[in-house]
Amino acid sequence: MGRHVKSPASFVQESSEWVRKPKAIDANLKDYAKACRSFRWKDVEKEFDWHRTKKVNIVHEMLDRHAAGPRKNKVALYFWDPAGRDEKYTFLDLKNASSRFGNVLKKFTIKKNDRVAVFLPRTPELYISILGINRIGAIPVPLFEAFMEAALFDRLENSAASAMVTTPLLLSRIPFKKLPHLKHLFLIKGKGEAAEGLPSGVGVYDYFEEMAKAAIQLTPTWLTADDGLVIHYTSGSTGRAKGVLHRQYAMVGHYQTTKWALDLRDDDVYWCTADPGWVTGTSYGIYGPWTVGASSLVVGGRFSAEQWYEAIQKFEVTVWYSAPTAFRLLMAQGKDLPKKYSLKSLRHICSVGEPLNPEALRWIRDITGIAPHETWWMTETGMQLICNYRSADFKLGATGKPFPGTYAAIIDDKGREVPLNTLGQLAVKTGWPAMMKAIWGNKEKYKEYFRVKGWYLSGDTAYKDKDGFIWFAGRADDVIKTAGERVGPFEVESALVQHPAVAEAGVIGKPDAVRGHIVKAYISLRAGQSPSETLKKEIAEFVKRNMAAHAAPREIEFCPKIPKTRSGKIMRRVLRAWDQGQPVGDVSTMEE
Ligand code: WT7
Repeated sequence: MGRHVKSPASFVQESSEWVRKPKAIDANLKDYAKACRSFRWKDVEKEFDWHRTKKVNIVHEMLDRHAAGPRKNKVALYFWDPAGRDEKYTFLDLKNASSRFGNVLKKFTIKKNDRVAVFLPRTPELYISILGINRIGAIPVPLFEAFMEAALFDRLENSAASAMVTTPLLLSRIPFKKLPHLKHLFLIKGKGEAAEGLPSGVGVYDYFEEMAKAAIQLTPTWLTADDGLVIHYTSGSTGRAKGVLHRQYAMVGHYQTTKWALDLRDDDVYWCTADPGWVTGTSYGIYGPWTVGASSLVVGGRFSAEQWYEAIQKFEVTVWYSAPTAFRLLMAQGKDLPKKYSLKSLRHICSVGEPLNPEALRWIRDITGIAPHETWWMTETGMQLICNYRSADFKLGATGKPFPGTYAAIIDDKGREVPLNTLGQLAVKTGWPAMMKAIWGNKEKYKEYFRVKGWYLSGDTAYKDKDGFIWFAGRADDVIKTAGERVGPFEVESALVQHPAVAEAGVIGKPDAVRGHIVKAYISLRAGQSPSETLKKEIAEFVKRNMAAHAAPREIEFCPKIPKTRSGKIMRRVLRAWDQGQPVGDVSTMEE
């Protein structure tokens, strides 16, 4: 770190191409430089009822407050699943539905601070469940629908969730016997759908039946700004997934970034393509848009280029928040397809999760007329921190500038800011509103992020240019970003060595034109096993079945031995060099 970069051109090909904005653009944030001088987070607190009442609950600010005013009958949620659901929920509808679910939870003695896992596909029930959980001050633990047994076990055990909302189809993946804390199961069943393999010793309740019996009134459980909001599990380079706990106060950050970076206004139809299993799907799929009172679209089902274009046309989406891999997948389908749809409703596009390459940016700009705006942040930061803004010119390929009221810098190991155009660790001055409150049950892990006093260490490397733009360069650790999703090599390695043919495994991210990186595994086989293409497929399938499809290796290479240090740590740096056909560098710490 701190290595001097002679020319930034070695990281980005086009540092001098600008995306220019018209002078009189009608953005919520009019003047970035001015906002940086005068903006104060304290002033944002005044936008919330709790500022006067001292009674905090984000659900009041998202739903009840709007349902008591002119937005009462405004659509909060458009839900479309091309496989057969097309529904609308007003702010009042969501207030009522979340009150019902809050009452259901209370009936089964679930209370403030209890963790309630939500393991569901993207459906209105997923959103209503999270809102109902938050309404009673319990803490939702969203679990991505693709998770299989091993991934679920880690997260359910660590959070000690006492209740769970899921569907009959997902039920068989949950290892109830190994989860003594899990006492209540709410099942979302289709009409006449049977549920097989029901666990014993767990209360099983029919979600729709219970909802029908529950009262429609429920005052939120009043909390303080420091109380819990949500736990998102995310991966690091070592160990199991970490439970990132956010606090209610995060709403201050969600609200203002939704206004200024997403630029949401009252007349927008906003589409965040992220699943609430990941932080983008809650911070900007639930908390941000509904605290500002926006209409949000949720599309169910898997990615399909046709259906995505159709969604924009059908709902006349105005603001679209998505990810580079999605843009590249659309790009891969060619330019004729978008010509069949009207995309002219769009007025603003944002991107998150991985660097947006200039080709993808230009391609989206060509088909929509709008350049996607980068937003950089992390599960741990809870909110967007480095962005390009709708009213501000930006350099194509740059990650952006710190959000007003926050300070981000490139530092060395001692916490000193490095000179311009020099690579270092991207760090953020502590104290922004949505900063995580804790790593659930792991104080040590939490402290690691703050080991340089006064700073939050992101684990990303980046540099800053003379115009104040921050340019993302890569991860400083072994965390893999594949299709925008964060995968921990250790978790995948642990899953791989469970396979009977595998002796040892080392996992890295391999650069990929569409997915940013793919998960690649180096594997040494047990004695008596012979390498084959069939075995590769079988091993990849095994990880899919036990952990999650997005974490399964897309590429496997067999090798006689996994390179390790004398203390037994896998040298992923060596694996990356092997993969790229590059010299392995200093291997003096490698075991014999
Ligand atoms: C990591 C965090 C919270 C949003 C979803 C990702 C990478 C995120 C960008 C961007 C380049 C980005 C970083 C970061 N990342 N946004 N605009 N440009 N890289 O959250 O899963 O916690 O991952 O995603 O490497 O550290 P996450």
